[in-house]
Amino acid sequence: MNRGALNTVEHIGSLVRRPVNRWTSAVHGLLRFLEDAGLGRVPRVADLKDGYEELSYIEGKAGLRPWPEVLKTDSGLSQLAGFLKSYHLAVKDYVPPEETEWCAPDVKWQPGLIIRHGDLGPWNTIWHDGVLQGVIDWDFAEPGEAVTDLAQIAWYLVPLRAAANPGGRSATKNRLY
Ligand SMILES: Nc1ncnc2c1ncn2[C@@H]1O[C@H](COP(=O)(O)OP(=O)(O)O)[C@@H](O)[C@H]1O
Ligand SMILES: [Mg+2]
Repeated sequence: MNRGALNTVEHIGSLVRRPVNRWTSAVHGLLRFLEDAGLGRVPRVADLKDGYEELSYIEGKAGLRPWPEVLKTDSGLSQLAGFLKSYHLAVKDYVPPEETEWCAPDVKWQPGLIIRHGDLGPWNTIWHDGVLQGVIDWDFAEPGEAVTDLAQIAWYLVPLRAAANPGGRSATKNRLY
């Protein structure tokens, strides 16, 4: 069993079981589109049951503290940026159904927007032997701009501020190692 910041996730063989939310079917629509588009390193939807979803388990170590060593290197950052580029190229053709309900209330896709991951940080990445295996936890996916995803990984992975810089909660979250 893994406890994320929000959800209790059970690992059962090749699957994980996560609680269902109001926006789960929106996320499944997105994940299925990505599967059809052939995008790797994203969980596949296996099932939706009463109260929980089953997604494919991605083997490796999540990018929680202490970070996997690779996250402290340019390689970690460029692998994640490379994934993001391939994600944005795949998702640019996704038009969600009109009635789609995302986690963020009252946001609607419109031409010119993409669906962005919405919670991009080390904590939602999986690594093995210095190689990015997957990006998980698509619950906060929402219509937006690709550059916002990019800004989010820069904010949480690039040492943009001195360690000594006091800045409240976000500075603590941005702490490097
Ligand atoms: N598809 C997956 N493959 C491998 N591990 C996963 C997967 N989904 C979740 N986990 C594990 O469960 C933990 C919490 O999952 P996550 O979906 O990020 O929940 P939360 O919404 O609470 O952040 C992750 O840090 C990871 O260890
Ligand atoms: Mg998470």
